[in-house]
Amino acid sequence: MSTAHSPLPPSSVDPRVRLATAVGPVLASITGRDDADPVVRPSDHADAQVNGAMALAREVGRQPREIAESVLSSGVLEGICSTAEVAGPGFLNVTFDASLLDGLLAAMARDEALGTPVAASPLTVVVDYSAPNVAKEMHVGHLRSTVIGDALVRLYTAVGHHVIRENHIGDWGRPFGMLIEHLLDLGTDVAAAGLGQGDLDGFYKAANVKFDQSPEFQERSRERVVLLQSGDPETRELWDRLVAMSTEYFNTVYSKLGVLLVDDDLAGESLYQPLMPGTLSRLEASGLMTESDGASVVFPPGFTNRDGDPLPLIVRARTGGFNYATSDLSCVIDRVERLGADLMLYVVGAPQQQHLEMVFAVAKMAGWMPDGVEAVHVAFGNVLGQDRKMLRSRSGESVKLVDLLDEAVERALAAVSEKNPDLSPDEQGDVARMIGIGAVKYADLSTDRVRDYVFDWDRMLAFDGNTAPYLQYAHARIRSIFRRADELGVAMTAHAVVEPAERVLALRLLSHGTVVADAVSANAPHRLCTHLFDLAQDFTAFYEQCPVLRSDDEVRGSRLALCDLTARTLAHGLGLLGIDAPERM
Ligand code: ARG
Repeated sequence: MSTAHSPLPPSSVDPRVRLATAVGPVLASITGRDDADPVVRPSDHADAQVNGAMALAREVGRQPREIAESVLSSGVLEGICSTAEVAGPGFLNVTFDASLLDGLLAAMARDEALGTPVAASPLTVVVDYSAPNVAKEMHVGHLRSTVIGDALVRLYTAVGHHVIRENHIGDWGRPFGMLIEHLLDLGTDVAAAGLGQGDLDGFYKAANVKFDQSPEFQERSRERVVLLQSGDPETRELWDRLVAMSTEYFNTVYSKLGVLLVDDDLAGESLYQPLMPGTLSRLEASGLMTESDGASVVFPPGFTNRDGDPLPLIVRARTGGFNYATSDLSCVIDRVERLGADLMLYVVGAPQQQHLEMVFAVAKMAGWMPDGVEAVHVAFGNVLGQDRKMLRSRSGESVKLVDLLDEAVERALAAVSEKNPDLSPDEQGDVARMIGIGAVKYADLSTDRVRDYVFDWDRMLAFDGNTAPYLQYAHARIRSIFRRADELGVAMTAHAVVEPAERVLALRLLSHGTVVADAVSANAPHRLCTHLFDLAQDFTAFYEQCPVLRSDDEVRGSRLALCDLTARTLAHGLGLLGIDAPERM
């Protein structure tokens, strides 16, 4: 969400933000630079480091240490920092005032959003994600799109944007003549049984084989496409049935996954078919369209083929048919002009990068994406098997998503029943579902999305390391502390940060809103994952060093307050990733 839109406001409970806000103007007046950036960073040696003097000194030709000293002597740090010193070539190392931290923790605890900032002017954000194809198996690429897209929907909603989900399913095109004829040959009941169980590949392959072998079937298929395109009611009804059978299957996957997509979010390629002639005439009128080899094309500047020749975006084939590009151009127009999109996120695999970039470029040239409207390709890499090749099932087929999700839950159930045999079978089942699905999602979200990742059951389901079960377990463990506290009749009191491990944990907690905003701005859910993992580790260190229930009344109360805020923050963060946090496990 880089250039076109104003950034999210800073989190009101982050002490580093407080520090930056206070020091900024002072640095500006010392250096005469209005844009002076204090560059406040976490530090290993202190609560925070102010690094801004370094770059500014270079720009204004002064000594960085001298500038840092002036910041110190200005008195601006009073009430924010208990200690501050100039270090190295000119950083400021600071320790935050304990009562400032206590106050910020209290404010964070009062806030249901835990310091997550809210956009000053909300954007309308269309998120294009999941997008499987009718009568084709959903592959792991669609899993990635679904999981990443769902996290982005939750993240953008959390910071106050108006989010519109669109599931741009592949439900149109030449193969649909063949698919409908195959549907008729099988009989709709037989077809529904197969497709409903997710045998999408089988259906598609059988139709393809017949198409290759039978000229008669080919002929019927061709005629059927024409009927479909001309809106023949009976054909349209068959097409509806076919789409419904597939979307029913997609819905079983979505409900197992626990993502937000519902039927109302379906906005498949078919939706844009009626708009395509209009798109073409608008392109024609704009003077951008040219003829090339009998096809209608646009040459967006900067795109070239392997030989360095200009690369055209084909919007009407030589045969007169529209294509994927025409459909995506119409879709841009629809999103901007009908839905009022300010920002469009395309959560689509990296291989479609050039297609999407060319579509965006042409839409901009044609004036369909005016200033203030932005489209971002939220690309992602591949899911690999242990052999570092594309993930396949044992028999070499593409992996069926339902099977994969069921296996995740089964494996989690084995772990849960071993670790916690006292839970009722129902509870074990619920928890296993949260852990298994959470593990799959988290494994996908926790690495930088543009990178490939290796699908590894043992690693993703491990109760230690950067995994969902580890975070869920940290959460459940804190909840169990509170169950014990209830039995003992003790409760939390006001925050009072004293010990170093408490301070480290407090600073991590208070940065939560900043991290959420950052994950939104960079469309990078993995940054939130890293933060939650750090938080769980900081909590573990705190819990080892600072007894909670065994401490004296006052200390115990404030430590319980830290425990509570940690559990809430973990649950909040996991929730933004679409992952449940069980109360016990
Ligand atoms: N259905 C496509 C696929 O499976 C993804 C569609 C992505 N969205 C779009 N507007 N082109 O690859």
